[in-house]
Amino acid sequence: MSVGSVAVGSGAVAVRDGAIAGDRQDSAWLAQGAAVRSRLAGPLKIGAISLGSRVLQAPLSGVTDLVFRRLVRRYAPASMMYTEMVQATGLCQAKALPNTMDVDPAEQPISIQLFDCRPDFLGEAARRAVAEGAMTIDINMGCPVNKITKNGGGSSLLRDPAMAVAIVEAVVAAVAVPVTVKTRIGWDDDEITILDLAQRLEGAGAAMLTVHGRTRLQGYGGTARWDWIRRVKEILTIPVIANGDIVSVESAVRCLAETGADGVMCSRGTLGYPFLVGEIDHFLKTGDRRPAPSAAEKLRCAKEHLQMLYDYKGDRGIRQARKHLAWYATGFEGAAELRDRLCRVETVPQGCEWIDRAIADLETA
Ligand SMILES: Cc1cc2nc3c(=O)[nH]c(=O)nc-3n(C[C@H](O)[C@H](O)[C@H](O)COP(=O)(O)O)c2cc1C
Repeated sequence: MSVGSVAVGSGAVAVRDGAIAGDRQDSAWLAQGAAVRSRLAGPLKIGAISLGSRVLQAPLSGVTDLVFRRLVRRYAPASMMYTEMVQATGLCQAKALPNTMDVDPAEQPISIQLFDCRPDFLGEAARRAVAEGAMTIDINMGCPVNKITKNGGGSSLLRDPAMAVAIVEAVVAAVAVPVTVKTRIGWDDDEITILDLAQRLEGAGAAMLTVHGRTRLQGYGGTARWDWIRRVKEILTIPVIANGDIVSVESAVRCLAETGADGVMCSRGTLGYPFLVGEIDHFLKTGDRRPAPSAAEKLRCAKEHLQMLYDYKGDRGIRQARKHLAWYATGFEGAAELRDRLCRVETVPQGCEWIDRAIADLETA
């Protein structure tokens, strides 16, 4: 499913690189880091499940397929990953499962994210998702895209708390695994309803809440308001995961310190950078910074991503790889030219040849 006009390209990467550059001048996070690490030393408990990482990879429509998750998991084996969101009604009515629900049997921990506004279909879809291997079921109550909200799904549930509760209750009744929700702080600045909604969702049986600190009106622009996440954390007993603008180890530490959240969820910061979840996880576990990959290492990962997408999806995989390849190709001389080519790549050997040439240039420079 496409997220329409969401601007996610090299802008996201620029945000991450910019945050890192800015953070180098800010030493406050070092002190915060020690406090955060000691507070979050134990496992993340979601209902009866215990996770060995407090850093989660967000569901990203059009991005977090099985291939992308495999790359992220290489650096963050204990982290919870989410499928792209799956529409419950479509799933229940279709004969075959959508490939957005493909899960590798060896892939755990994995959560399947569902969206819809029909409690009965969501319950049935959750049962199918568990049969496919979902360790938890996540319900999307944050997607701002019109075609989702006009049908009563995604962030429109912010305006219909009774339905949001009915959905959680139906899914909790349908499956034995923990049911979690990912949502936003409200519809717009005049309707920041997250405090009331969060309490109702917990009362309905949600086992964890991820809060993206933006309103629906903000879309993906502006700044994520972590202060609202702190207020949610203060009133819930279930784990609260902070989401929005987690683009580096530094921003993760700052966010965890400011919100008191039980973990962080990385989103656009992982585009073209499947190392991020592992980098934050490594810091939280050891207090050490993993060296950032060089531009050449990122490009080698891009090549692998291209090959893996082709192996999994054939020519469709090549077309889907174009945006990923462009996200990897940033931050070095000649990157713009390489991006321009990679956006039009037709075959694996062609893409690999272009990338190999760029790597050779970087290594001889
Ligand atoms: C391309 C794209 C696809 C997304 N798809 C989903 C999705 O399927 N489910 C979901 O809950 N959120 C989705 N989101 C929202 C992100 O998971 C996250 O909440 C948001 O990007 C804020 O985090 P960030 O500021 O770190 O990017 C998507 C965002 C983007 C940019």
